[in-house]
Amino acid sequence: MNRFEVVAAMLPSADVCAQAARATEEHFAPSNIAVCKYWGKRDAELNLPINPSLSVSLDHLGTRTRVEPIDGPVDDIWLNGLQMRPDTMFAQRLSRYIDLYRQGHPQAFRVETRNNIPTAAGLASSASGFAALTLALNDALQLELEAAALSMLARLGSGSACRSIYSGFVEWHMGHREDGADSHAHPIEAQWPGLAIGLIKVDEGVKSVDSRSGMARTVESCHLYQSWPLQANTDLVKLHQAIDAQDFKLLGSTAEQNALSMHATMIASWPPLVYWQPDSLAAMQKIWALRQQGLELYFTMDAGPNLKLLFLEQDREAVLSHFPDLEIVLPFGS
Ligand code: DP6
Repeated sequence: MNRFEVVAAMLPSADVCAQAARATEEHFAPSNIAVCKYWGKRDAELNLPINPSLSVSLDHLGTRTRVEPIDGPVDDIWLNGLQMRPDTMFAQRLSRYIDLYRQGHPQAFRVETRNNIPTAAGLASSASGFAALTLALNDALQLELEAAALSMLARLGSGSACRSIYSGFVEWHMGHREDGADSHAHPIEAQWPGLAIGLIKVDEGVKSVDSRSGMARTVESCHLYQSWPLQANTDLVKLHQAIDAQDFKLLGSTAEQNALSMHATMIASWPPLVYWQPDSLAAMQKIWALRQQGLELYFTMDAGPNLKLLFLEQDREAVLSHFPDLEIVLPFGS
């Protein structure tokens, strides 16, 4: 099944755009940080992963999107108050995603989307972006789909977007079906007040190799990648234990090792994929030294140079004294 067929099976009718399209309010979806990473696809068209993953959503940091049907031949796409030319990668990616709902009908939309996180800086704005757009289209086309279906649809925009449909801890079941009907996220019923995530912005520029191309390169060229699914599955079990027992050391150490394992597969790809910059490594070394001195501080990293720190709110002052520019999010409040 291709993407169009998968979506057609979820829509009430093929001409839903002609019948039901209406303007919406803003819909919000949070950004998410994976503590067990999604890296590698078994189906690149449907964004079906080779391994399961687990994330925590970033509360108020994310994307707000509203859509509105318009007359005209092309979508009118706005990002952070700026009109995007239709030939930009950003506009094309969104329009191609909306095509799945259009199913060949010529209805165009105005899409107004705003991020309060840097776009394409490794802070997962595509995840919250596609999740917010999915929620807005569900409203615009009066689809009334359940969360699992919305998660599946968001996955077709960007894999990690399937986790941004939910807040808190979220697990993405990789699924095994060819049409991806069992590959969607679901929320984990656990709170962790006082869990803190700190964002270190090493570089806010657009990354050189996006996740999609990066993972394709790794799967094709890296022999170490063979062991990645085993690493991810082992880490997933440990993360569930950590969350159940509120064992921060286990959560932090598992997340950090998981991220470094993913980066090991990236580095061992050909041509090599090194997302780190000198400041990324300097921050890691600082974290390891602080941990030696007894501070419970861990990090994770995605396909970019920025670090996301994991610590407990009780250590906020100590962490801030070493990383004064840190932006701190408490996904579950204090
Ligand atoms: C390293 O979801 O951006 O952030 O499915 O190709 O859109 P596509 O990839 P994307 O990949 C995210 C990769 C990651 C790890 C993660 O968030 O799990």
